[in-house]
Amino acid sequence: MPGTVTKKARASPMVLVVGHIRKAASPAAASEREASERRVEVWVEAMPGATIGWVLSRVIEELSRKEPDVPNIVGLRMVKGGAKVAADSSMRGGGSSAGSYSSGRRPSDSTGSSPADLAGLDDGGLEGDLLVDYGVAVLDILADSDCLECVFEVQEPSSSSKAKLTGLDRVQVADFQIIRVLGTGASCKVVQVKHNGNFYAVKVMSKRKIVTNEKKLERAIAEKRLLARISHPFCVSLHWAFQTKGHLFMVLDYCAGGELFHHLDRRGPFSEPDTRFYVSEILLGLEYLHSQGILYRDLKPENCLLDVDGHIRLTDFGLSKENLTQSALFQSFVGTVLYLSPEMIRREGHGLALDFYCLGCLVYVLLTGKLPHFTGDVHQMCSRRAKGEAFEAPKGCSPTVVHICERLLEADPAVRLGTQGQALEVKEHAWFQDVDFHKVYRKEPQPVFPNFPPIDPKVDPDHNFSSQFTRVPVPSQLLGFGSTVTTSEHLIAGYSRVDY
Ligand code: ADE
Repeated sequence: MPGTVTKKARASPMVLVVGHIRKAASPAAASEREASERRVEVWVEAMPGATIGWVLSRVIEELSRKEPDVPNIVGLRMVKGGAKVAADSSMRGGGSSAGSYSSGRRPSDSTGSSPADLAGLDDGGLEGDLLVDYGVAVLDILADSDCLECVFEVQEPSSSSKAKLTGLDRVQVADFQIIRVLGTGASCKVVQVKHNGNFYAVKVMSKRKIVTNEKKLERAIAEKRLLARISHPFCVSLHWAFQTKGHLFMVLDYCAGGELFHHLDRRGPFSEPDTRFYVSEILLGLEYLHSQGILYRDLKPENCLLDVDGHIRLTDFGLSKENLTQSALFQSFVGTVLYLSPEMIRREGHGLALDFYCLGCLVYVLLTGKLPHFTGDVHQMCSRRAKGEAFEAPKGCSPTVVHICERLLEADPAVRLGTQGQALEVKEHAWFQDVDFHKVYRKEPQPVFPNFPPIDPKVDPDHNFSSQFTRVPVPSQLLGFGSTVTTSEHLIAGYSRVDY
């Protein structure tokens, strides 16, 4: 059956989504023959405008109703000609995996991939196969005879941090003791928790607010998937991700220094050398994300956290975009209005250059405490940016920092610093002339940073977070967040289930 086959009595084409669940017959690493494989099929009506994200949520909903033991779904991938082969072939059992479940295999096996190759997050190559643009219309990418395949998480008995993400076997959700609220957003809270003597920050998202908003749902799934694959000294790391009936939880590094924004707000603008310290670390974080094909899209001082030693950790990847290629341009209108680039304002589509514009805003904000082009009216600010008007030069600063701001804040993304040579081009600007980026990466002091680090979070630990958040009462345990979902249970892709 082709992927876009019309089924009887249906107005819209139907898309076939298949999954192959392999369950080990015995807990002791079952042999190929002992393991049994079961094929599940879900037909989704591709109504006009149905996106990959929409199909994914329908599949999760359907499988959670029909198949109580189905493993977590990491995402979907396309199988070229798979619908036809799926219709013709009978299911094949076997395969080897140390885990109790494996992801599906291609019905045709035509790629020659072994089941282990397709075994979920543990395989670096898999990520490239996943459909990561949830906003794309499903009928635009599926040809006749193509189908979609569910990619399931594999639970493997491994102590690697990635394996931790595949289940809650090794953590008890009841063992997370909540300390305080660190921040709040429209549909989430970040709370500090203690687990086995270590501190973590847990991002708690209400499913009630997420499942009714397709964009938020897509972002929650994409953020977890992205966090699960990144690892860099200047980016927060994900330790576990799980869900209850009412909430999603992402357990992240706890950054004891809080938001750079909070410190800027408390102490006023930074000196030029201190600004250079933070921007150097942020630039390395950005360079890493770009090297992974990730466009950050939400670079601002609120998302630059300080770890316990005062070094940068980028956080909040809910707006980030994966699968970036040098030429890719995204159309969606995202980010924070105060950091909007000219191409976003003009709705021209945006790519890598967007992050460099935001970096320019950040340099300017850290130096002056003000936003470029802002004189009290956001609309005027946007119009000045879109027209490419000059901004007020930061006062009392070196000509080189004024120049890097001008180059990063170029209205035309094609000529903006970083567009051609990416982060390397920015590192080569004269403002960074004396910076040794190898030492930056290793977090080693160097003469160009006279205050190392500019803020030591240990000096005044009570003032690293805004009391606006920390005084908000919370339950003492994550389970205390209870359930707010009263309809059928919604399971969200990539987050392990905890039963309660
Ligand atoms: N606020 C948001 N995320 C945080 C984190 N990981 N650590 C500390 N504060 C935060």
